[in-house]
Amino acid sequence: MPKPYQVQDKYFQLAKDKGYRARSAFKLLEIQEKFRLLKPGQTIVDLGAAPGSFLQIIAEIVGQRGRVFGVDLQVIDPFDEPNVKTLVADIFDKDQVMDILKASGFEKVDGVTSDLAPKTSGIKDLDTGLSAELTDQAFYLSTLLLKQGGFFVGKIFEGSEFQKVLKRVKGRFREVKVFKPDSSRDRSYETYIVALGFLGDRIKT
Ligand SMILES: C[S@@+](CC[C@H](N)C(=O)[O-])C[C@H]1O[C@@H](n2cnc3c(N)ncnc32)[C@H](O)[C@@H]1O
Repeated sequence: MPKPYQVQDKYFQLAKDKGYRARSAFKLLEIQEKFRLLKPGQTIVDLGAAPGSFLQIIAEIVGQRGRVFGVDLQVIDPFDEPNVKTLVADIFDKDQVMDILKASGFEKVDGVTSDLAPKTSGIKDLDTGLSAELTDQAFYLSTLLLKQGGFFVGKIFEGSEFQKVLKRVKGRFREVKVFKPDSSRDRSYETYIVALGFLGDRIKT
């Protein structure tokens, strides 16, 4: 049986104590501990970035030589760091997202992270379907944004579309793993696709 959902769980309190804007911070920290994707000096785009805890972690690791761009439907409270930029946009509006990123000099990037999530209804098929659409779009944007060799990390709720999205991602990256951080709630279907070594224009069959 899944554990009952506790709104103020251990990670919620830990995030508060450590000054992170959301408990999601711990998911990215676990992904980073396992895969060591983020490095000083990198340029990263974070999709579904509000309120900004992924951005906090990324900004800390890439440092002053690196740059981070967060995109969300919601306004993200500004950061003090000058190398963190944010944009209010719908990720399905590809032209708007790409134009603004390009205008800000984010033409080719080292990594794309996505913690995008739909507003959940509690209806599993609906929620997992919407999550798969978001992750598929994040993956598509990553193929436009990434340098060859770059990485993509995308949250997805496991459901009937999961394998299809995973297969598409596998076609464009050297190595693809599925990773569920401990800090993802036990009751949740959420997991992360971690894709390494973007192949550029090559497509694996
Ligand atoms: C779980 S939250 C992200 C938390 C964030 N990673 C952090 O660490 O603070 C998911 C976000 O996805 C955003 N989102 C959902 N659909 C979106 C869309 N179509 N375009 C842009 N953002 C979207 C939501 O507004 C929400 O802020």
